[in-house]
Amino acid sequence: MQSGTLPKVELHCHLEGTITPDFALKLAEKRGVDLKALGNRDGTYSWHDFTSFLKAYDKVSDLLNRPQDYYDLTLDHLTRAAGQGVIYTEFFLSADHGRRINIDYADMVEAIDEACRHAEEASGIICRLISTCVRHLGPDAALDVARETCARSHPRVTGFGMGGDERCHHPSEFTPAFAMAHEAGLGCTVHAGEFGGPESVSSALDCLPVTRIGHGVRAAESPDLVKRLVDEQIVLEVCPGSNIALGLYESLAAHPLPALLAAGVAITVSSDDPPFFHTDMQAEYETLETVFGLSHSQINDLNCTGLQAAFVDEDTRKSLINRL
Ligand code: ADE
Ligand code: ZN
Repeated sequence: MQSGTLPKVELHCHLEGTITPDFALKLAEKRGVDLKALGNRDGTYSWHDFTSFLKAYDKVSDLLNRPQDYYDLTLDHLTRAAGQGVIYTEFFLSADHGRRINIDYADMVEAIDEACRHAEEASGIICRLISTCVRHLGPDAALDVARETCARSHPRVTGFGMGGDERCHHPSEFTPAFAMAHEAGLGCTVHAGEFGGPESVSSALDCLPVTRIGHGVRAAESPDLVKRLVDEQIVLEVCPGSNIALGLYESLAAHPLPALLAAGVAITVSSDDPPFFHTDMQAEYETLETVFGLSHSQINDLNCTGLQAAFVDEDTRKSLINRL
């Protein structure tokens, strides 16, 4: 069996980041938007560093402006993921984006939930959502997202997270938002150790009730922090293709995934924003096998780690583990 056809578990993927150039083109035509202005040329998105990526991401996201767009996008993404063997996925949804384009949060979640149900009926893929605030929009906006997520809770939304530019604001500023989500029973994860160094991961762990870190790969620069991750059983949502595309490492050969794994850190592998980074779950799993030299049994261990760390009820977790 090729790793491409192995079952897969994905915990770190941004819904707006799954918009393919094809999907964007269709929406842009409907809206009469000039795609060149969106930085989309020759079927690929155009950006050159993290800041310009975030801008391109926002511009592409702005093409979504009705609940139906969220339904279509979710179904498009889940159909593709299931076709690549993904059996369980969590993805980030952005209430801030909904607010920017005047879509009511509950309508957005309903549309996404309906697509998740239809995808599960069609292929068996199981999905949960992580309501996510954006770090560079600041702590007040994050608290608004936490309030909305908790006040309008939905069984499909089982997690709370934060993406965006980790070079802005200290994690302590987001403690109230995360505390609210945690008290409401949501699993918590935060992006750290991507564009910030080990201290960014340590302070996130000090200040926020998280069991998982989005990326976290720069923890590899500090043996003390690596030991802390192992001792506290923190799970890293590692996205190698994203890290290379965004220039964190020159090549996969320089990527710390094998060193983190060898040190005993709990790791899962995800695609982050697949079409932006010219990747998908199949490509990520092929990298695990052909570049990092992982056996199928080691790859299956990563799937188990992912399911153990998933923000999902125990019955569903057990039945998913049986599917591996
Ligand atoms: N939002 C979408 N992709 C992201 C990434 N790789 N890092 C931080 N925020 C993001
Ligand atoms: Zn991410």
